[in-house]
Amino acid sequence: MDRSELIEEARVAFVSRFGHEPEVVGVAPGRVELLGNHTDYNEGFVLTSAIDRGIAIAGCAREVPSARVTSLDQEGTVTFDPSAPSKDPNATWSDYVKGVVDELNKAGATIGGFDALIASNVPSGAGVSSSAALEVATAQLVLSLYPHRLMVDAMGLAKLCQRAENNFVGAPVGVLDQFSSIFGQAGHALFLDCRTLEHRTVRLPADRARILIADSGVKHALALGGGYRERRAQCEEAARWFAARYPNDGIKTLRDVTPEMLEASEGKLEATLAKRARHIVYENMRVKMGAEALQGGNIAAFGEMMSNTHESIRRFFENSAPEVDALVEIAQEQRGVYGAKLSGGGWGGSAVILHEPDITEDLCAALADGYRQRFDRDATLLPTVAAQGAESRRFDDPL
Ligand code: GLA
Repeated sequence: MDRSELIEEARVAFVSRFGHEPEVVGVAPGRVELLGNHTDYNEGFVLTSAIDRGIAIAGCAREVPSARVTSLDQEGTVTFDPSAPSKDPNATWSDYVKGVVDELNKAGATIGGFDALIASNVPSGAGVSSSAALEVATAQLVLSLYPHRLMVDAMGLAKLCQRAENNFVGAPVGVLDQFSSIFGQAGHALFLDCRTLEHRTVRLPADRARILIADSGVKHALALGGGYRERRAQCEEAARWFAARYPNDGIKTLRDVTPEMLEASEGKLEATLAKRARHIVYENMRVKMGAEALQGGNIAAFGEMMSNTHESIRRFFENSAPEVDALVEIAQEQRGVYGAKLSGGGWGGSAVILHEPDITEDLCAALADGYRQRFDRDATLLPTVAAQGAESRRFDDPL
């Protein structure tokens, strides 16, 4: 299903739910993380791309100060006061919508009532950022329904959606997902420096390389209490250790730790923290080298970097899952595969595989068989391409 079909699905469902046509649709894609695993909140570098799957939210402003939101994939309608959204005690999908409205209000937008219907073709819990797609699509919709209430540029919007997830949902994520969903460029990867927020596109030639997402079906639990929060705390603790050891070097995050400092810490820094730091310090180097390789057209070198990243995830950051490791391993054994790694937070979710275009079918067959044999369950295989970022469209605009 392409973007226009997804938008049409949301429009038709909106009409059948609310009895009239919607005004606007906000659309936002999911993403794959090509390189830069857990580097974003360490103020490091990432290489990412938006994918051709995402979320469309069709909506209409209301005169009463009440929001009604419903989703094709979920039961029931959630109703809330947009001037004071409150968190669902059961922590559901609607918290992402409410969180964005809350942050928009905090930024001074004063959001009024609206009706909205969500349609999605991005799997949730698969490590491809359905949550960021929901946040960004919500922001696109609501800012179109209530225009001129807030001046915010694209990066400001990415940071606002990240805050919605940090503050309202309570997941201490970085900006990778929201950035990718907003800045996506068809046929390109995106390089981001998460400290300076400088970014650039790098061509990902579809005639030479394709992306396959292999979803293990194992759900990750990123929010409160998950391993993600623990990893982030460990990275921060390791950064404090280096800052104390090198007081004149202005170390704020692991971004500032050099490979020399890391090697010199051998046997001194506590073993678990040392492993986490090792992953981040070298991962930042891999992202920069990978971006250069891709820019120079050296896709094989780029793919190798992806596989090296997965090795580092497995040995040092320890945020993968046996199911994802197996998908990566099976992929790496196939002819025409450049590289493979875990995509996203971890503890399940998806492997992202970069491969030659003409092997898609064989690769999918090998993954399907191999995975079923090892785990007696099915992987979901989603061939994808680097796609365009978020937008909003008015239904009355001529195409
Ligand atoms: C999740 C988070 C991102 C990032 C990745 C790991 O997707 O939302 O901010 O930290 O994990 O790279």
